[in-house]
Amino acid sequence: MCGIVGYVGDKESAPILVSGLKKLEYRGYDSAGVAVVNRNTLNVVRATGKLKNLENRVSQEVPKGTIGIGHTRWATHGRPSDENAHPHSYKGVAVVHNGIIENHLALKEELRAKGHIFSSETDTEVFAHLISDELERGVDLVEAVRLAIKQVKGTYALAVVTASDPNRIVATKDSSPMVLGLGQGQNFVASDVPALLEHTRDFVYMEEGDLAVVTAQSIDIYNRQGQKVNRPTRRIDWTPMMAEKGGHKHFMHKEIWEQPRAVADTLRGRMLLSEGDIHFEGWNLSPEKVRSLSKVTILACGTSWHSGVAGKHMIETLARIPVEVELASEFRYRDPIVDGTHLAIAISQSGETADTLAAFKEAKARGATSMAICNVIGSAMTREAEFSVLTNAGPEIGVASTKAFTTQLVALYMLAVKLGRMRGTLTVKQAQEHLTHLTEIPKMIEDVLKCENSVKRVAREFMTAQDFLFLGRGPMHPVALEGALKLKEISYIHAEGYAGGEMKHGPIALIDEKMPVVVIAPKQPHVAYEKIIGNIEEVRARGGKVIAIIDEDDEHVASLADHVVRIPPACALLAPVVATIPLQLLAYHVAEMRGNDVDQPRNLAKSVTVE
Ligand code: F6R
Repeated sequence: MCGIVGYVGDKESAPILVSGLKKLEYRGYDSAGVAVVNRNTLNVVRATGKLKNLENRVSQEVPKGTIGIGHTRWATHGRPSDENAHPHSYKGVAVVHNGIIENHLALKEELRAKGHIFSSETDTEVFAHLISDELERGVDLVEAVRLAIKQVKGTYALAVVTASDPNRIVATKDSSPMVLGLGQGQNFVASDVPALLEHTRDFVYMEEGDLAVVTAQSIDIYNRQGQKVNRPTRRIDWTPMMAEKGGHKHFMHKEIWEQPRAVADTLRGRMLLSEGDIHFEGWNLSPEKVRSLSKVTILACGTSWHSGVAGKHMIETLARIPVEVELASEFRYRDPIVDGTHLAIAISQSGETADTLAAFKEAKARGATSMAICNVIGSAMTREAEFSVLTNAGPEIGVASTKAFTTQLVALYMLAVKLGRMRGTLTVKQAQEHLTHLTEIPKMIEDVLKCENSVKRVAREFMTAQDFLFLGRGPMHPVALEGALKLKEISYIHAEGYAGGEMKHGPIALIDEKMPVVVIAPKQPHVAYEKIIGNIEEVRARGGKVIAIIDEDDEHVASLADHVVRIPPACALLAPVVATIPLQLLAYHVAEMRGNDVDQPRNLAKSVTVE
């Protein structure tokens, strides 16, 4: 949710920290700060609001020093303010923290009884006090951090610098992401890779309970038991340009337009057309195991959950295995029925979503085989999974997920084909047909992007609407859900996504002449084309305005709708990839026309690493 950056080396740290924070601003953005150590002096600068406020402050009073930590915050405990912004400091100890300390109130009480005075409403500040107490007892910084974290209950990625020990950063994590960036004569810590791409491509992902001691020349990592451990170094292929806007006004716009490339990269090297099969590197499920699967349980949140719903259609149709799609946040709070014949698939862009991770662990603990579909190699989800399918979308910076969704859809389709071949529900010839459909998708996305101007016209007409309804049937139902989510999260217009057949069971009451209804109606057998036309008639009869997403040549629906967006005809199960694009553009342009902060919508954060 929030972002962390740390630097130690021979350069001035403040500009490096601020520039790293800029790359992380998408993770959380109600305040930011840096703490820099110069010899034995700690200098903390913080500012409420956007990062440019911090930048202004730092340029007025540049904190000098070649070691420091920085943070961009998404408030959980305490309103956004200068006092509540990180870093929090106490007696020369400065900390930045992502996560939640559940027992902070009890700890604060104990510390107050010992005479500590707190200057913020945050849970994080207790870390600075606990560490400073331990240092005063005479232990060294590493031990002080270790003893402090033993006292807290909750989740954390924590980075610490002190005035008394000015050459090292101590970083530790449990359930919140933290990576170490390796440099020459300089090293880095960060909550997320994009923060450091302009400095290094070599990263070490810290594991749960790890504690790292980072100096300009060395990085030592200790596990929860205090034993020194080696963690693998990974080279990340993402370029700094991939984390820049590349001429687009917003990251979201760039990421929508990147989808032909992102989808092609996700397919690349995996389709064995002549064999009618899919090659997933590291695939470790035997044919016997795949044939013995009795159920697939998909665990995900938000947009990733929507791709799971589309994945259900794909896997059930092609591989004939029952699929349940679970909201990860609900899954482990009941007594889910999972056993060793189940395959649990976590779907996540970030690979760090706390609810998905917890549900995934629960499914594993109950015996399920585990697989992740994820965009971030080395993330918690891929480390937890026995096997991972990476969506090669590249870094997704816009808070509203776009290219992650469409790459998840094609990854799920490939998985459905692979499972279908292994279970014998698809012949080589049938699989070849599906692979051919897949190869056509990047070009179709390119074509559908040309609809941007017609989508803009629709956006202009309805940008002041108060409510929107999105309808789809079969595989278009998750597209309707996704269209509504995209619109509401960045335009702040209330929007609902519904299965077309459900409209009569309630939402129809909302329809009047002010209500735009987006109907996703490609001519596909699975989407019950005739039935969705029935929905359009029902909306028209009540004066609602119909915006229809239709096949290029569909003059019939065109004659019924107020506005149409034409898309190239894809096969039924892949049509969601193509049909989603106009809805992403619609949300983008409505939000943009309303003057909203498209990339960083209010109240949201990119990676939801708290439950
Ligand atoms: C919506 C959006 C969120 C995420 C959700 C899960 O645009 O981005 O709904 O899809 O928070 O995140 P991941 O996929 O990182 O697990």
